[in-house]
Amino acid sequence: MTAASANNPVDFADLLAFYASAGVDDALEDAPVNRFAEAAPKPVERLPTTTPHASSAPEPPATPPRLDGRAVPDAPAPRPPTSAVPDEAQAALARQLATAAASLDELRQHMAAFEGCNLKATAKNLVFADGNPQAAVMLVGEAPGRDEDIEGLPFVGRSGRLLDRMLAAIGLDRGSVYIANVIPWRPPGNRTPTPHETEICRPFIERQIELVNPKVLVNLGGPSAKTLLNSSEGILRLRGNWRVHTTASGIAIPAMPTLHPAYLLRTPAHKKLAWRDFLEVKAKLRTLL
Ligand code: URA
Repeated sequence: MTAASANNPVDFADLLAFYASAGVDDALEDAPVNRFAEAAPKPVERLPTTTPHASSAPEPPATPPRLDGRAVPDAPAPRPPTSAVPDEAQAALARQLATAAASLDELRQHMAAFEGCNLKATAKNLVFADGNPQAAVMLVGEAPGRDEDIEGLPFVGRSGRLLDRMLAAIGLDRGSVYIANVIPWRPPGNRTPTPHETEICRPFIERQIELVNPKVLVNLGGPSAKTLLNSSEGILRLRGNWRVHTTASGIAIPAMPTLHPAYLLRTPAHKKLAWRDFLEVKAKLRTLL
């Protein structure tokens, strides 16, 4: 990138290209915000040194100004010893809310009101589900992408169009399946969700599966398969073999891990593997319905 100069449009093109390559492909606000113009750092207030306590106690170190130019909080809250503590609290809250949901509508409301996952702050929409909640087949992907975030529906972009064709090949469509994701909010720039984000969102998708209670679950891609089948194996090993997803109430649902449509778009030679997996699903449905 060339040196920034406000009047040189070439610099802006370079800057935009840099943002795009870093995964920054979407505006969060309608209008730009100049973060550098936000509140200047406040001067650090020192305790009076004449009080008996202050004179006997060691003086607190002066807080250095923040490098990003944003205000220094007056009294920093005590930090928990590890970052896992608040995440575990959020995961516990998610579990509580998910368990309390008696229907898919209630679950959607609880998820919409949940503030415990940072991905919600940058997502445009909650991507809850698409399709038929009475369907025998439920498909679960990883997390919404840009198109899904805009529309609030899973698998509506390029990989969704491929998924529709894969479903059509075994006689199914969005009216005869139910589709959701492990993570219901788009990770910014389509980055991979962190393990903490996955653990926070896990109770919601588990409850969603339990409430839909499909005859067959299809895990689209490694993250869905690993999360919902409690496996650490790679998707190329997992795919094509029936596994079991066990719900919190103990219902065992046959699950077929398969390749993610986005992967198949990049690796079309593997479409034949997904085709075999979908034929397995079709055959299983014949035995169950
Ligand atoms: N990829 C996913 O895993 N889910 C979507 O909804 C879209 C793309």
